[in-house]
Parts: sequence; structure tokens; C-alpha cells
Amino acid sequence: MKVVKGNKIEEFTVEQSLTYIEGFSRVHLDIGAGDGRYVYKEAMLSVAEEKKSNTLFIALEPVSKQLEEYSKKSKKAKLSNCLFVVGSLDNIPVELEHRINSISILFPWGSLLQNVVFPEELLIPVISNVARNGRLFLTIVFGYAPEAEPSEMRRLGLEDISLNSLYEKIIPRYIKNGFKVECVRQNSREDLKKYESTWSKRLAFGQSRPVFTLDLLLQLP
Ligand SMILES: C[S@@+](CC[C@H](N)C(=O)[O-])C[C@H]1O[C@@H](n2cnc3c(N)ncnc32)[C@H](O)[C@@H]1O
Repeated sequence: MKVVKGNKIEEFTVEQSLTYIEGFSRVHLDIGAGDGRYVYKEAMLSVAEEKKSNTLFIALEPVSKQLEEYSKKSKKAKLSNCLFVVGSLDNIPVELEHRINSISILFPWGSLLQNVVFPEELLIPVISNVARNGRLFLTIVFGYAPEAEPSEMRRLGLEDISLNSLYEKIIPRYIKNGFKVECVRQNSREDLKKYESTWSKRLAFGQSRPVFTLDLLLQLP
């Protein structure tokens, strides 16, 4: 597994990775982590609150350069409960198989967004494969608007999105595959400000667009 450490990338062997992961009782994976700010903040919070859950937070992002800043910050803060890993939805490190308790996908774009809207081909099989004991909590925060990105919507084949179309089209694709809906909501600007991710902050202050949160629980038989 390729782990970003400041400006460098360290190759962890499978054994090293598993030893690291097994030192924690829970593992959270943030897919499409961007600069990794969300993972860094969650790891900081977890330490500050001395959470007994002992969670490892992993930022997974295909563009390694993006992870450098918060990897450096985590080193400076001496955090050992977060890792910044190079990878993508179609290239998940094998070490993560059957080890993940929860996943977040925050403000996906490109192929990641397409896989959130049409999860059956790749996202659901990947999640089912990384879920620990067949159970995993998934949070997706996403949105798009024809006014903001018409050509991207056409390119990715995305349908118009609203609370109605979420319930009628997107959510059933998850339910059919073993997910239960825990919560669905449309976020206000104030809600967006509360997410500790760089894109959340950007969108909270930028052009208004609908952004939805989907909390889902996978429980495989
Ligand atoms: C808009 S950014 C959001 C970054 C971060 N989650 C945030 O909230 O600040 C979308 C991120 O998804 C990543 N991404 C795009 N396609 C991906 C894929 N197939 N697998 C994993 N990440 C992907 C991009 O590299 C980019 O960093």
C-alpha cells in the first residue's frame, strides 16, 4: 500500500499494513479524500476526545500530491491514527479487504460521482468486499446542478437530482443490494460549513447548488 508521508511516498508491505490496521478496533475509509483535510480533522478530534473506539482514519486519493499538506500536518501533530493512502475506487489496496467499518465519500466528482449515482457496477461490489463482517456504515455527501456543470452531467450520463429523484431512482439501487437507509437530507449552506472538508467549505461560500447527504447501512446476510 502506498502511503504519503509529507513529500514522499512510502511503500508499506501487506504485512506492515495489516499490523498497523490491526492496532485499531475500527477503521474509517474516506474515498476521494482530496487533500485529506476531513481525515486529519476527524483524527485530531478523536484524539482530543480520547475516543475509546480507537479508530484509524484512512484518506484514499488517486492524486498523491494532493495528500501532502495534511499528511505533513498529521506528522507535525504526531497523529498515529490516520493514514494518507494513494488509491482509487477502482484500485483499492488489498489490505483493506474485510477491514473497514465505515466509509465516507464527500463531494465526489468525475468517475467517483458517476459510481455514486450508478453504484451497482463498482461501488457496491467494492464496499461489500471491504466491509468488516459484512456490515458497513456509508455516508455520501454529493450534488450537482445542470446550471453549474451541464457538460459534465451529459458526459457522466447523470439524471437531474432532487430529493424526489434520490428516493425514486438512486436510493433503490442501494436498497436492492442490501443497504438500509438511515438518513437522507438536503443540506443548507450552514450544514455545509459544518463538514470539515475543503470542498464543503468551498461550496458553502460558492454558487448555491443542491447538496444531499445519504447515510446508509450495509448489512450482508
Ligand atoms: C471535489 S474533490 C473532493 C475532495 C474531498 N472529498 C473534499 O471534500 O474536499 C473530488 C475528489 O475525488 C477524487 N476522485 C475522482 N475520481 C475518483 C475515483 N474513481 N476514486 C477515488 N477518488 C476519485 C478526485 O481526485 C478528487 O480529489
